[in-house]
Amino acid sequence: MRIFAFETYEEMSRHAAAVMAAEVRENPRTVLGLATGSTPLGMYAELGRMCRAGEISFRDVTTVNLDEYYGLTPDHEMSYRYFMEKNFFSLIDILPENTHLPDGTAPSPAMECQRYDRLIDSVGGIGMQLLGIGHDGHIGFNEPADQFVPGTNYVRLTEDTIRANARFFASEADVPRYALTTGIRAIMQAKKILMVVNGAAKAEILCRALFGPITPQVPASILLLHPNVTVCGEAPAMAMIREKFPTAIEK
Ligand code: GLP
Repeated sequence: MRIFAFETYEEMSRHAAAVMAAEVRENPRTVLGLATGSTPLGMYAELGRMCRAGEISFRDVTTVNLDEYYGLTPDHEMSYRYFMEKNFFSLIDILPENTHLPDGTAPSPAMECQRYDRLIDSVGGIGMQLLGIGHDGHIGFNEPADQFVPGTNYVRLTEDTIRANARFFASEADVPRYALTTGIRAIMQAKKILMVVNGAAKAEILCRALFGPITPQVPASILLLHPNVTVCGEAPAMAMIREKFPTAIEK
């Protein structure tokens, strides 16, 4: 695992964008596993700038997103499909048919989970998986639980996640209670993982995730078993790691 700390959010975003850009240049047909949340916004904007400047192309890239709220239509402003179109896909030259998210309007969540797992297999798995981390240690919407769930699954969001994500909705009551999320298997089978983290509020959970113990109560802790993880963190999010494991940070 490589852990990098940056003084500002902008620096972190630029570095993370450079890591993803290197993957796309090396493997122009790569499959990117993508994430939503506020953390990757700066990185997506930087990749958009690079694409407009002709420094990179996503023409042959395929994307599979981690998750989607259940019950929101793709044109709902709070759906993750809408988020991705607005904050990334519209900024780059990716072909719309190569972008995939779980379908939050599928009548049967169970069948949609199976479809999404087959889709991930059919594109050959994930080349680089981008991850943020939730305040409770979730990745995608894999919430703290008694066990890790391997496949795409239909989850009830925890109260902590509902509260954390309420900032994007008119009120907490509007936050969907259920979501579809890629499971731990597809994430762990990604050839490379890139995690972005900012904000002092993530310092403790990030430290628990990256230094163990590995437990489904901190879903991100499973990443300790992955052979190729790069973490880009803004300094406040790195505070506890800096204090407890200073030599683990490269920059
Ligand atoms: C949501 C997403 C996660 C994301 C998390 C953190 O719950 N499902 O994929 O990592 O939020 O979001 P933020 O980056 O806004 O803190």
